[in-house]
Amino acid sequence: MARSTSVFVCSSCAHQEAKWHGQCPQCEEWNTLAEERAPSRAQGKRTAGPRSAASGPVVLRELASDSTPRLATGITELDRLLGGGIVPGSMVLLGGAPGIGKSTLITMALGLMAASGRSTLYISGEESAAQIRLRAERLEAGTAPGALDVPVLAETDLDAVLAVIESERPDVCVVDSVQTLACAELSGAAGTVGQVREVASRLIEVAKRTDTAIMLVGHVTKEGSLAGPRVLEHLVDCVLQFDGERERTYRTLRAIKNRFGATNDVGVFEMRDGGLVEVLDASERFVSEATRAPGSVVLAAMEGSRPLLVEVQALVSPSEMVPPRRLCSGVDRNRLALVLAVLARHAGVSTGSADVFVNVVGGVRVDEPGADLAIALAVASAASGSALTAPGDKPLCAFGELGLTGELRSVAHQLRREQEAEKFGLTELITPQRVGTLREALKLPNIGSRDLSARNAA
Ligand code: TYD
Ligand code: MG
Repeated sequence: MARSTSVFVCSSCAHQEAKWHGQCPQCEEWNTLAEERAPSRAQGKRTAGPRSAASGPVVLRELASDSTPRLATGITELDRLLGGGIVPGSMVLLGGAPGIGKSTLITMALGLMAASGRSTLYISGEESAAQIRLRAERLEAGTAPGALDVPVLAETDLDAVLAVIESERPDVCVVDSVQTLACAELSGAAGTVGQVREVASRLIEVAKRTDTAIMLVGHVTKEGSLAGPRVLEHLVDCVLQFDGERERTYRTLRAIKNRFGATNDVGVFEMRDGGLVEVLDASERFVSEATRAPGSVVLAAMEGSRPLLVEVQALVSPSEMVPPRRLCSGVDRNRLALVLAVLARHAGVSTGSADVFVNVVGGVRVDEPGADLAIALAVASAASGSALTAPGDKPLCAFGELGLTGELRSVAHQLRREQEAEKFGLTELITPQRVGTLREALKLPNIGSRDLSARNAA
């Protein structure tokens, strides 16, 4: 039975009930109510009552200017994303799919920090100390000397974890993962919205009090949101998202939110035998690996504020299936559906009876409308079987958004994309500035001696 200090909160609409219901009375979703600790009376009074503040308001100009101390993690890309390092007493949330390398990244960071004389602590609710040691051995020999010097605690009880942080008071503490810790006073299992919120808020409180920087690992759900439908994102100071595919070598790390730095940056990593290695020349690699075969186009994408050249590949093959398959990795399914519809309706490239596969090479994800044109060109090229190379056997580069009437629309950071392409010798660029519609793009000379738009797939 619920204690009187509990409320049941709907994870989709945040509606509160005193009792558990199978269906949320407000939004009518099923199985979304999870138990949470109700705010205590004292707390309620504190915010409502006419109690005087501990200190009066201050004029901003009279405040000492920013001298936020930073704990550098020793991983250049990570430090850059964090805005120079972790801020003591702050909370960083690292999200990503299982197996992407979250534990690897934070073990490396802790190891490097331990090696530089910081006190560290690794709390794991997922793996035993022996398992963590196995990983640390690989890292110690590879990218993170010091990985074996990190103290480890395998524990899932929140109160025990808080007590250890309180007594050890490390500079940096990692909690891997937030979904595995549970507060014994709440009835919900570890990982439910109520538990996740409780765990995070109590950890934040201890972090502030002990000036310990906490890195919290969180799994993302199948839908891609950080577990506990975004409940954590507003609680923490910084949200880092680790993307990529487990089977591929490249991973991107980006800051979605950062109270102490910019958010429009991305770091590219490669998973090697001894850990994650920063890839500083990502564009160069992707361009040199581009196949120049039918179905391949280089996309000048923006990853935050950083331009990145990636290869988009498409395969179009006759299908017996009804409806035919549309599979993609690295791009959004709905975007692909839109591009295929525009191709069919406005450019005469119909793929209605063919399977279409689209892939961004290297496991990079491009979630921006600027990818539309490159996807369309790759599909058209695959459908016609003719390669899109520029003079000098260079890959063709493109970017631009597709409108529903087949027009090309300009996208952000036009110039930076062009400069990046130029830097890597891609002089043949198809952009919304150069052509007005998708049909025109498919008729350009370097594509069009074979006039892709005239042929249909399958
Ligand atoms: P892990 O960090 O455990 O992923 P997560 O915590 O996000 O679930 O590890 C991901 C994968 O990385 C795992 O399958 C093994 C691989 N790996 C390497 O390739 N090289 C290494 O040095 C290490 C430590 C792991
Ligand atoms: Mg892990």
